[in-house]
Amino acid sequence: MTTAATEAARLVGAGVDRVDGPSKVTGTARYPADFGFADLAHAVLVQSTVAAGRVRRIGTAAAEAAPGVLTVITHQNAPRLARAPGGLGIGPPPPLQDDRVVHYGQHIAVVVAQTLEQAAAAARLVEADYEAAEPLHDLDDPRAERVDNASGRDVSRGDVAAGLAAAEVHMAASYATPVQTNNPLGLFATIAHWDGDLLTVHDSTQGPAFARAALAVAFGLPETAVRVLAPFVGGAFGAGLRTWPHVILAALAARVVGRPVKLVLSRAQMFTSVGYRPPTVQHVKLGARRTGELVAIDHEGIEPTALEDDFAESLTRATAVLYHCPNVSGRTRQVRLNVACPTWMRGPGEAPGVFALECALDELACELGQDPVELRLRNYAEVHPQTGRPWSSKALRACYEQGAERFGWTRRAPEPRSMRNGRLLVGYGMASAYYGYVQAPCQARASLGLDGVAVVRSAATDIGPGTYTIMTQVAADALGLPLERVRFELGDSTMPPAPLQGGSGLTAALGSAVHAACRQLLRAFAELAVSGPASPLHGCDVQDVTVLNGRIGAARAADLASGETYTAILARHGLAELSADGASARRTDLDAEPGIFAAKFAEVQVDPDLGLVRVTRFVAAVDGGRILNPKTAASQIIGGTVGGIGMTLLEQTMSDPGTGRIANATFGDYLVAVNADVPDIDVVFVGEPDPINPIGVKGIGEVAIVGVAPAIANAVFHATGRRIRSLPITAERLL
Ligand code: MOS
Repeated sequence: MTTAATEAARLVGAGVDRVDGPSKVTGTARYPADFGFADLAHAVLVQSTVAAGRVRRIGTAAAEAAPGVLTVITHQNAPRLARAPGGLGIGPPPPLQDDRVVHYGQHIAVVVAQTLEQAAAAARLVEADYEAAEPLHDLDDPRAERVDNASGRDVSRGDVAAGLAAAEVHMAASYATPVQTNNPLGLFATIAHWDGDLLTVHDSTQGPAFARAALAVAFGLPETAVRVLAPFVGGAFGAGLRTWPHVILAALAARVVGRPVKLVLSRAQMFTSVGYRPPTVQHVKLGARRTGELVAIDHEGIEPTALEDDFAESLTRATAVLYHCPNVSGRTRQVRLNVACPTWMRGPGEAPGVFALECALDELACELGQDPVELRLRNYAEVHPQTGRPWSSKALRACYEQGAERFGWTRRAPEPRSMRNGRLLVGYGMASAYYGYVQAPCQARASLGLDGVAVVRSAATDIGPGTYTIMTQVAADALGLPLERVRFELGDSTMPPAPLQGGSGLTAALGSAVHAACRQLLRAFAELAVSGPASPLHGCDVQDVTVLNGRIGAARAADLASGETYTAILARHGLAELSADGASARRTDLDAEPGIFAAKFAEVQVDPDLGLVRVTRFVAAVDGGRILNPKTAASQIIGGTVGGIGMTLLEQTMSDPGTGRIANATFGDYLVAVNADVPDIDVVFVGEPDPINPIGVKGIGEVAIVGVAPAIANAVFHATGRRIRSLPITAERLL
């Protein structure tokens, strides 16, 4: 059974416009804060102004007496809650259950009022006295608990000490990256309402089923009593991968006041309530032969995690697999501090980890007097260097070659500080990128009724990459229907379960499930047709049935126009609709390792007097397997590159060392890249469909940002001769 479309007419691979574009630009797309209720009440959070200790006294009388206030909930009167999962694994302690404070910005009260203004005014009347303790804020603090290999992804092979001893050339350096905050444009919002013991929640989540599970545990409900909706989410970059305490508090407040409650975080609250990229300190040692072959890599990363919550990423996952090298040790250690819990932020682990590794490679290339691309090709990992298994697909060599070609890498004069544009210093830098994407099991359901429109559903989310669009393409392609005859729906926990939109894995998982559901649906129609005595397909083998332009007919028939439509088959059998389920999982029969790769090339121009760095050109060559939609895929890479420019040159969340207070929790003070900071970004996709799943895709969301920082940092070194090993690369650091 096939879909008979000519290659030119295929929808998969076409750069079609976003199917949800019109609803977004006309304002009909409803984000979590956009759902209204007649008796909606508003909640505003009160947060701790110290990082450690206890709430000695919390005065709520003035707030309770303020106009419009319905309730003030603190640890003194909050109903009991159970500890819920936070995303992948254990979540934070439930909020407002005792008087202890473990981080600045911890929620200590929630004020609910008739209007948002009344709730905000009353929240300012809540008075808290603290018994403050000295916080653990320093990664080096000997009192702090250290957690080794919490991500379970530490890697070692060979004998690093012996490798380093035998090496002819050595490089050792330490790198640092700051706290950076996800900062999606959409403020995270939750609207909760109860109907008896049934809880419905609109939330800024990257996984409705995961939020449902967390809420069910927190309130001691069966999952069937909780529904979570997120048809649109205003960005997240990983912040929506866990269910944070404010989500639980919104549902708690709604239960207490017996009305629907809306809670929207302020921009300042976003900095302490929904995670952030943890700061890192990384130590890298490389050993190589004079000819450039790596003989040893030692890479240790250290970052904070919360005192009573778990977050762990691996800073060295790419280190273990990017290069053929016999002796490797990659370790990440978390240190428990009085900080809000960090979380995944685009390219978690790899984005900071690859910054250290790829800057170190650049330093080694300088030491060897070797071209940076040549050094990487010399150490190319033809097979997975840890397991020795082949890659399911890998076109990193083509990324280097095509990226270098488009960039004009051969024009690079090797000597630092040797290229100029007038009085500006010009530098070229490059880096490799890898991301270990994760394809989790996924389900979808496809239905087609008498209106002739196929509806495909799965409880996934689309935080911006274009999931609505590419799933519509996959479904339309599989069913032989035009795009406008397919509607893809997501963002509802009652739909078939989907994984989180994270780890760059949703397109592979969901696309495969949608594909499977639609093939099953086509098969169901074909079986119905061949069984019908009045059908032109009567007696045909189902295997010989195909679909073209919405008509189902015999594959051998020259003219498929004689085939039947889906609706004609339904009508003849007196049916209102047919449905079919599809499921997907990563292939396990393939003796191969998945991986997504890229090469990034940056040109910078640096003002030698002012220390101002501008990224003037950028080329991203990406091996993304089959690209379902080159327009949305290129947008992903451009967006990740913009994030990477911010990561490298602008973004750092600053906090007061005594209290943990965030000093720059506004968009005026926390700088993100804006149009003036961003050059034209040239994206090229190379590679082949990956056999790891039936639609041949890899996930490109995270590799989009990985490698941007080292490419720019290496270009800054090439321009100036100054090696800046701490991000962001600011004028102060450069002068
Ligand atoms: Mo991504 S940081 O897994 O949303």
